[in-house]
Amino acid sequence: MGTGHVGLVTCVTFASIGHEVVGTDVDVEKIELLQRGIPPFFEPGLEEALKQESASGRLSFSTVAAEALRNAEVVFICVGTPARANGDANLLAMEQSASEIARHAPDGAVVVEKSTVPAGTADRVLTTLQREGGGREFHVASNPEFLREGAAMSDALEPDRIVIGIESPRSLEVLSRLYAPLLDTGIHLIVTDIRTAELAKHASNAFLAMKISFVNALARLCERAGADVADVADVMGSDPRIGRAFLDAGLGYGGYCFPKDVAALKRLSERLGYALPLLDEVERVNEEAVEAAAAKVEEALWNLEGKRIALLGLAFKAGTDDVRFSPALALARRLLAAGAVVVGCDPRAASNAKGELPELELADNAYEAASGAHALVVATEWPAFRELDLGTLKEIMAYPLVVDGRNLFDPSEMAGAGFWYYPTGRPPVVPEPAAAGSLPIEPVGDVSPIEQRSAAR
Ligand code: UGA
Repeated sequence: MGTGHVGLVTCVTFASIGHEVVGTDVDVEKIELLQRGIPPFFEPGLEEALKQESASGRLSFSTVAAEALRNAEVVFICVGTPARANGDANLLAMEQSASEIARHAPDGAVVVEKSTVPAGTADRVLTTLQREGGGREFHVASNPEFLREGAAMSDALEPDRIVIGIESPRSLEVLSRLYAPLLDTGIHLIVTDIRTAELAKHASNAFLAMKISFVNALARLCERAGADVADVADVMGSDPRIGRAFLDAGLGYGGYCFPKDVAALKRLSERLGYALPLLDEVERVNEEAVEAAAAKVEEALWNLEGKRIALLGLAFKAGTDDVRFSPALALARRLLAAGAVVVGCDPRAASNAKGELPELELADNAYEAASGAHALVVATEWPAFRELDLGTLKEIMAYPLVVDGRNLFDPSEMAGAGFWYYPTGRPPVVPEPAAAGSLPIEPVGDVSPIEQRSAAR
């Protein structure tokens, strides 16, 4: 139930390991697309796998939940759990799914939460199943999903671990059988109780968000100290107790999961009488990351009114067309509010971005966006941007000025190409005036230590 990023990948994965899967969704248009083999969003490898599994006859889709549920041995709830205004997870779709299951699923069905939900949600699901199930018996379980957008297919087929929270032997038996083809390849299975499984998912996402905010706070510190956050992260990350992953400083985390999950864990902890102000700080530092990039643009360009800014990347991260809670769009909003003309480009997410932010101008590619721009800002770490020809970029821009919100470029190459280059948490590159061409503005008065650093690197 639910054919979003998690639900659809789950459908395809289970079909590919030999199960018979029927996907259903309240969004009729989405199901009609899926019936024609078209995924409603971009995910590498998904379209091919969807077509292949649909052709095999193991995977089908139905707009009618009753049809999908009629003979189900196991039902996965993969619906959205967006944040309410106060940060709570909105669990209405969970309740509606439970009602449908109660009405249409057979006696003995195992009902599995795959959506990320606050600890204790399974109890609510079970209550609904019992109230509305006409005396039929249901087993509730939790099976949190850890897949990342952009790498979802491989994450689902080769996960680091499979976690199942269960409270009945029937759930364990069904889920072990379901996952047997993956478990047979040696993938680690962690079996625990339902609340622990629910909490472990929120804890994992909040911890990763905290890692990102930690490194972004360090980036602010490195900018003031004249240190290099990428090197600091390498040093920290080479300690296996810390690990290098999720220590890339940048514009902060976005996407559909981290922002809502940090908020939901905060609300859960408040409700349980143990507030986690640590997470307030994680959120504050995350917002500061976008502001820090905007401040660099302002510092370099002076007034933004009428200035043209090329924004490279609009998706919340590379490898996806998803712009939900994209830091790139948060930065675009901030620059637009200051009066700039923002011209964005993205290999996949341009039209979604335009839908969210109509004031954004779109370019077909990075060179078109950069043409005549007073500054270029890297907002999403698409590998293709790394391959841009720096000489051409410099020639077509009004000012040769780059703010790198994802530390995508090599500072020494940027120095060699004659750019004013402002990375994140690393010393900026400021060409010597003699070799510099036309400097956008002459610094007057107090110049911050960041600006005074030369392109020694
Ligand atoms: C995240 C988790 O990584 C998955 O394990 C989880 O299953 C998923 O949420 C979910 O709950 O559904 P996802 O949102 O697809 O996956 O994206 P991530 O790769 O985790 O990136 C999240 C954000 O953090 C992106 O905006 C990314 O640019 C940013 N990030 C990541 C950094 O700023 N620095 C880093 O070092 C890593």
